[in-house]
Amino acid sequence: MAKNPPHVRKAVLPVAGMGTRFLPATKAVPKEMLPVVDKPVVQYAVEEAREAGIEQFIFVTGRGKGIIEDHFDHAYELEMLLSAREKTAELDSLLEGLPITGAVSFTRQQKPLGLGHAVWSARHLVGDEPFAVLLPDDLMVGQPGGLAQMMEVYNAVGGGVIVAAEEKPLEETKRYGVIAPGQIKGNAIEVKGLVEKPKPSKAPSRLCIIGRYILAPEIFAELDRQETGAGGEIQLTDSMARLIGRMPFHAVKTTCARYDCGDKVGFLLANIAVGLTRPDIAPALKAMLRGVGP
Ligand code: UTP
Repeated sequence: MAKNPPHVRKAVLPVAGMGTRFLPATKAVPKEMLPVVDKPVVQYAVEEAREAGIEQFIFVTGRGKGIIEDHFDHAYELEMLLSAREKTAELDSLLEGLPITGAVSFTRQQKPLGLGHAVWSARHLVGDEPFAVLLPDDLMVGQPGGLAQMMEVYNAVGGGVIVAAEEKPLEETKRYGVIAPGQIKGNAIEVKGLVEKPKPSKAPSRLCIIGRYILAPEIFAELDRQETGAGGEIQLTDSMARLIGRMPFHAVKTTCARYDCGDKVGFLLANIAVGLTRPDIAPALKAMLRGVGP
């Protein structure tokens, strides 16, 4: 593998999941559109990807997710109204989150058959080049952003596959893809094996994959098999595992805090954590939090 791996220009954002853990809120509103402070969850992932150098954003959507498309489009009436009323800060907040024309594309998963299937649905839009995957429900808070830290490792180790990982309590491994770790080089941990959702007794470590990946296009040939794994779903982890030994494969523990916004408690925590990073909100929020609770 060359020391200078190909540039990662594209990111896939799978947003076709049903969000059953967040009902009834997600009955008519996609969970990716729930706001953390004043921006929908999905916008944080787009900003993180852009900061990492991503130029093209590929959303894998499903039925009922149409307002995600609207969110990344101009809202002419609103923009004209804000402009006429000289509400510059509000207008800027709409425009700064908008990717340039042609940088966003959408494809449909049609049936929610699992994360591996969602990524496979984007194969024609990705083509034959490395790409990132960001699960927007996993909100990463920190600087540099989660994907930017992974890109640094991608360039340092000569490319291949990079996953973000977090140390979890053993009893939680059954909810994640779990890593069998090898050598540690700086902040890159060599990945020797992967197991999807193992029971604690079968987990090779407590290092769990969280929702950020840099993948090689070879993943699509593996996903083509459409094999189901844990939970009867087409798992991304199973296809990634088949790339081990064929290319460099590393996990990165980023310095970012990660909040699972697909989970009610994680979502509440994300709102507080992001609120506390915002100079316009933090003082009032801190004062009020002191008075919260029994
Ligand atoms: P989750 O495991 O959070 O599943 O998916 P979910 O269906 O969205 O949520 P719950 O568990 O029912 O509450 C992780 C990520 O993979 C995407 C989701 O949109 C989310 O970003 N996903 C999952 C798909 O795009 N398609 C799928 O078939 C499954």
